[in-house]
Amino acid sequence: MEVAIIGGTGVYDPAILTKTREVKVQTPYGEVRPTVGEYNGVEVAFLPRHGAGHTVPPHRINYRANIWGLRRLGVKRILATTAVGSLNPEMRPGEMVLIDQFLDFTKGRPSTFFEGGPDGVIHVDYTEPYCPELRGAVLKAAAELGYKAHDHGVYVCTEGPRFETPAEIRMFAKLGGDLVGMTNVPEVVLAREAGICYATISLVTNYAAGIADGPLTHEEVVALMAENNARLKQLLMRVLVA
Ligand code: HPA
Repeated sequence: MEVAIIGGTGVYDPAILTKTREVKVQTPYGEVRPTVGEYNGVEVAFLPRHGAGHTVPPHRINYRANIWGLRRLGVKRILATTAVGSLNPEMRPGEMVLIDQFLDFTKGRPSTFFEGGPDGVIHVDYTEPYCPELRGAVLKAAAELGYKAHDHGVYVCTEGPRFETPAEIRMFAKLGGDLVGMTNVPEVVLAREAGICYATISLVTNYAAGIADGPLTHEEVVALMAENNARLKQLLMRVLVA
């Protein structure tokens, strides 16, 4: 198993895969059950981040079990999807962004495998948190398909599950954030700790609170993802054969 897809909001089914089966993987953090299948001769594992029926909120996702489980399957590259709100007027709803940096505003999540003890104290470099090779492959595939994909973006990860206040969004914009979401930290962090090449395709589903007119709803996020699901799938498939 070389490649895994972690599907975010709106990406729940591994329909692009054939010969699928659910596997159970035990980890020190609990069991994970990715679907394993094939696309065009490539073995792929698929894991819906929020559970098959979108039942797990961002702050309760067992990120460590997910990444450990994929690592145990031998996964070397993870391509994830995330729904995001935009703070940047140039990153519009419906557009994709290959984020390359993050700002961590999460609060209470277990976000490391390195807890000290016999393994010692380990500090990992995040100068380049997202895998440049995989980001490059996605950007190339997007260009070939004629999809607009921004090649940089600073992702602000909030604790959720609530959406942000307009004051928070103004602060994030001042700090250099482009996009806001609730799940990429610690996912990207753990992937790096596990030595897995990781990239995320962020799909802008809305302008962030205070920039959008009126209140935000989860339903509009899901609706925008549904509208763009086919394009996202096309892009994932193209990257898998690259
Ligand atoms: N904020 C946080 N997470 C999100 C948003 C948002 O506006 N849109 C999609 N995920």
